[in-house]
Amino acid sequence: MAITTAYRTRSDALPLRSFKTKGRPSAIAGVGAYAPEKVITNFDLEKLMDTSDKWITERTGIHRRHIAEPGTTTLELATKAARSALDAAGITAHDLDMILVGTSSPDGPFPSIAARIQNELDAPGAVAWDTLAACTSFMYGLSIADSFIATERADNVLVIGAEVLSRMLDYSNRGTAVIFGDGAGAAVVRPAPKGAGFLSWCLGSDGRGYAQVTCGNIEKGAYAAQDPHPYIEMVGPDVFKFAVDIFIRQANEVCNTAGVALGDIDLWVPHQANFRIIDAAARRMGLPLDRVAINIDEYGNTSSASIPLALEEAVRKGRVKSGDHVLLAGFGSGLTWGACLMKWA
Ligand code: UT7
Repeated sequence: MAITTAYRTRSDALPLRSFKTKGRPSAIAGVGAYAPEKVITNFDLEKLMDTSDKWITERTGIHRRHIAEPGTTTLELATKAARSALDAAGITAHDLDMILVGTSSPDGPFPSIAARIQNELDAPGAVAWDTLAACTSFMYGLSIADSFIATERADNVLVIGAEVLSRMLDYSNRGTAVIFGDGAGAAVVRPAPKGAGFLSWCLGSDGRGYAQVTCGNIEKGAYAAQDPHPYIEMVGPDVFKFAVDIFIRQANEVCNTAGVALGDIDLWVPHQANFRIIDAAARRMGLPLDRVAINIDEYGNTSSASIPLALEEAVRKGRVKSGDHVLLAGFGSGLTWGACLMKWA
């Protein structure tokens, strides 16, 4: 049954699926990020539409967002973040066995961004493909990396989240245009010592909520083929309730599965969709905000790039140290969600 409006997250919620990691352990060995230089502030948006800095700040926590210049490709952003992650991990593109790109805003239906990054970086040994799970894409990519390393089918995996969402914004729709931004983040995943790295996962989808966040006229298959402007649309307040709920449920799930108390999380890196969503979930999880990575004020919602953008900033600022319990958690269109608990290697 399709539930297209008033999606009742609590009464209809699906049971969550969670997994303890098995096989060879893996961990994030290096992170990188890149955002375009051009910034659009809330005050700039006031001049374009019926909105205000006060409304955007109070309702979302966003002050600025980085926006790609016309003609800038998702590939360009992704490649810059990828190079930084490789440097941080101390490996070269020739070491890569796999490249996974999460994106909802590819430069075209095909070839994949991942294949083109393989070409840009010169990574001849890598199998490369894109994953599409909207804002959850980076989390799904990380889980694939962990699985391939666990089963010894890969040693070095590059996972990227990259978006030029500004191409999909209707600047006459103040409900979406003020929220999204452009950017890219990347992580290199490699084998880790026993007991370190990824400990547990919670991944899921609930297609009954497919109409909650959409882009283009999906009912007519118009995306790319005939629809000249496939704009993002969403049922904001319903997604808000789903988001708070799924953040809390996932956090509990990965902690219980790993046998780690929620209070022992040293840093939570959430998908940056709305400060109020993060704040509401953190309060109900009993996590003080000084243990939460938040940079939505600077970047807005960058979809699949938001978690690695926030993680890279946290690592760069020294907020993560070896042995810390780090929770990553996302959600997005689909509906989809994904979280993992890591012991930072
Ligand atoms: O990662 C993708 C997943 N998406 C999300 O996570 C989004 C989750 N949802 C949200 O973050 C929030 O629902 C929004 C930020 C999108 C909207 O905030 P809200 O507090 O839920 O506002 P609302 O949609 O209930 O609208 C309240 C009022 C409305 O006016 P009336 O009907 O009360 O007169 C809207 O028309 O705010 C109005 N409004 C705005 N006013 C000024 C909506 N957008 C704006 C705006 N500026 N940009």
